[in-house]
Amino acid sequence: QTGYVTLDRGYKNTGATKSAITFLDGEQGILQYRGYSIEDLAAKASFLEVAYLLIYGELPTKEEYSKFENAIRRHTLVNEDMRNIFNGFPVSAHPMAVLSSLVSAMSAFYPDSQDEKGDVDKHIVRLLAKLPTIATWSYKRGMGHPTNYPKNELDYIPNFLHMMFALPVEEYKVDPVVAEALNILLILHADHEQNCSTSTVRLVGSSQANIYSSISAGVSALWGPLHGGANQEVIEMLEAIKADGGDVSKYVDMAKNAKTTGFRLFGFGHRVYKNFDPRAKIIKKAADDVLGKLGVNDPVLEIAKGLEEAALNDEYFIQRKLYPNVDFYSGIIYRALGIPTNMFTVMFAIGRLPGWIAQWKEMREQKEPIGRPRQIYTGATLREFVPLENR
Ligand code: SDX
Repeated sequence: QTGYVTLDRGYKNTGATKSAITFLDGEQGILQYRGYSIEDLAAKASFLEVAYLLIYGELPTKEEYSKFENAIRRHTLVNEDMRNIFNGFPVSAHPMAVLSSLVSAMSAFYPDSQDEKGDVDKHIVRLLAKLPTIATWSYKRGMGHPTNYPKNELDYIPNFLHMMFALPVEEYKVDPVVAEALNILLILHADHEQNCSTSTVRLVGSSQANIYSSISAGVSALWGPLHGGANQEVIEMLEAIKADGGDVSKYVDMAKNAKTTGFRLFGFGHRVYKNFDPRAKIIKKAADDVLGKLGVNDPVLEIAKGLEEAALNDEYFIQRKLYPNVDFYSGIIYRALGIPTNMFTVMFAIGRLPGWIAQWKEMREQKEPIGRPRQIYTGATLREFVPLENR
């Protein structure tokens, strides 16, 4: 502490704002959106109802829901000029690089979003409506398939699945088991108070940058392997364990010697949850249900359960209160739904979008000041410049 600055690296003990959106209790493993438990919402609500709840504060009436849902349905088309940007990417581009760029580009297609006093609801609808469409472009191009246009007769999640998996050569029928699994996953990812990417969205928005630029910054922060990128890392880790003979204790040991091995068990640990991540509990159960219903037998699920068992009985993890987090089992379900590993963090972004929007909107409504933390300076003291010829 020097004078007026208290150093708090990673903001582990800093409250950045007051918020009425999401309540989480890391000790009890409780997560609620606007006072509703995620257990209740995941079991009974649709993702768009939860999006409305997070953004506008209340569950929508039938009339409010119909208006909201129809507005989204009628804005799923993306400006065709966005394809020029999209086609400039190498086919090997990671879908998150594409997503953050195209979301940022939306500020150029909707310049009135720069108007700090302008109507933000139409931009909220555009983001919710167009993110899934944009997300599927990367997948289709990576497969060498034509992209699909959205279809207005389909609901939100079936429309996404259709754009992802339909091919011009045959009829694509949405499997209700797949749609229901995705509904649960998107709801569970919808918000999580002041996590890294949400804090990024708030910080960028606090300078009065437009909503598209703010959300694009959130996509970039989410991509990191320590944050939303962990769901891709988990599957790659589980695949490596499987290829290596499935000996989970070897990897638990490697994680315990992280200092020397530099290895972390992705999908474990959390800054706030010092108990089971309540989302992980629901996703783990959903993984068994969905794979059972789809008749998918994924050996990686058994490896994940074995790894969880080994870690939760190990002093290193118990002492540090490292439990499976939201990213540990989600990839196993995405994979069973036919979604490739490099699209997992995009799925996280589609789920987290309403939360980012809600937090950005609250930050604006609360007129939060521009975010500008201080530092403790440790650099050189004052010194004279030495001309190049003398150096
Ligand atoms: C998400 O914040 C959110 O809400 C995020 C999120 C959301 O919904 O927005 O919940 C989504 O990002 C979930 C987390 C996904 N990330 C991972 O699964 C990556 C692996 N996890 C870790 O890197 C880590 O646990 C973090 C990043 C999640 C949290 O890091 P912290 O709070 O800064 O904790 P830390 O790195 O200081 O670890 C504390 C100790 C350390 O050991 P010591 O130095 O005390 O000896 O625990 C160890 C760490 O080495 N540790 C791990 C570990 N995570 C922490 N050791 C092995 N494997 C791990 N996964």
